[in-house]
Amino acid sequence: MLQGKLITLDEFTIQETRKFPQATGELSSLLRDIALAGKVINNKVRTAGLSDVLGKQGSSNIQGEQQEKLDVIADETLIHVLKNSADCAGIASEENDDHVSYEDTFSANSKYVVLFDPLDGSSNIDVNASIGTIFSIYRRVSELGKTCTEADFLQPGNKLMAAGYIIYGSSTMMVYATKLSVNGFTLDPSIGEFCLSHPNIKVPENGKIYSLNQGNTNKYSEGMKAYLNYCMESNKEEGRPYSHRYIGSMVGDLHRTLIKGGIFIYPADKSSPNGKLRLQYECNPMSFIVEAAGGLGHTGEERVMDVVPTELHQRVPIYIGSKNMVNKALEIIKEKEVVG
Ligand code: AHG
Ligand code: MN
Ligand code: MN
Repeated sequence: MLQGKLITLDEFTIQETRKFPQATGELSSLLRDIALAGKVINNKVRTAGLSDVLGKQGSSNIQGEQQEKLDVIADETLIHVLKNSADCAGIASEENDDHVSYEDTFSANSKYVVLFDPLDGSSNIDVNASIGTIFSIYRRVSELGKTCTEADFLQPGNKLMAAGYIIYGSSTMMVYATKLSVNGFTLDPSIGEFCLSHPNIKVPENGKIYSLNQGNTNKYSEGMKAYLNYCMESNKEEGRPYSHRYIGSMVGDLHRTLIKGGIFIYPADKSSPNGKLRLQYECNPMSFIVEAAGGLGHTGEERVMDVVPTELHQRVPIYIGSKNMVNKALEIIKEKEVVG
């Protein structure tokens, strides 16, 4: 609620659309459909312990990871809702081998495609910690009127129209970013609407929290180990040692980073030369959101959003969050590489 006035996600996006006379409202309507899928998934998550949706599905996804039942439910919900949407030509999901082109005439004439990680942080499902849904929206590059193609889904992050996530945390929130701004909407369960609660989110330039899987330290490069030592070293003026926080759910860890500042890292290591997180479903949308809020998303080599994807499920290392913290991490790591 802003100054006693409730603004729903719908009202907000319609107001935003009015600022652009050429806008057709298709993006707002697509967002409404994604929000609907989010509400359906939220319902399943909120009552997970009471219905038979906890635990493993008994199948693996394209990445060879064990699927949780809720991974599959969330995936199917998004595919179904977006198929019925008038504004989505097709989807690609972390849980499926290939993209799905919707074949009907309506969809063939839609100008957007959506990519998603239906449920991020799956390992947290059974322990009732924050999980989320991450989504990205691209304008398709294939011919309008025909079914969409893989090229629509292999666009770099710098071509994103919009991205966001829904976090199923102590409350349920949708954080939605366009190039212009990042805004947070809290789900009011009494009216079933996402309402503006965090207008114009800006990630602080500096932070005091580092977030990574510290159990992997032995597998890290010398540069990464040097940065870890920097985070743990005492320096009163700079507020170090920093605090370490790691939920193990990118959505949860980055939501905190967005609000409080900090750095989140999933680096390359000895057993995963490209890191673990997926460029198209996790790193690009999160970089788009964080950069629209004034932060930075980097692979160690280049901006995440400048990587030209060659495969739907490709992985990249990621350093993301408060701009000054990310730049400092990259500087320390580079220094060590030059010396070592
Ligand atoms: P997902 O549940 O979609 O497979 O993603 C899990 C990801 C991400 O959310 C998190 O940051 C990371 O895996 C945690 O990995 P580790 O357990 O290796 O730290
Ligand atoms: Mn994920
Ligand atoms: Mn997932």
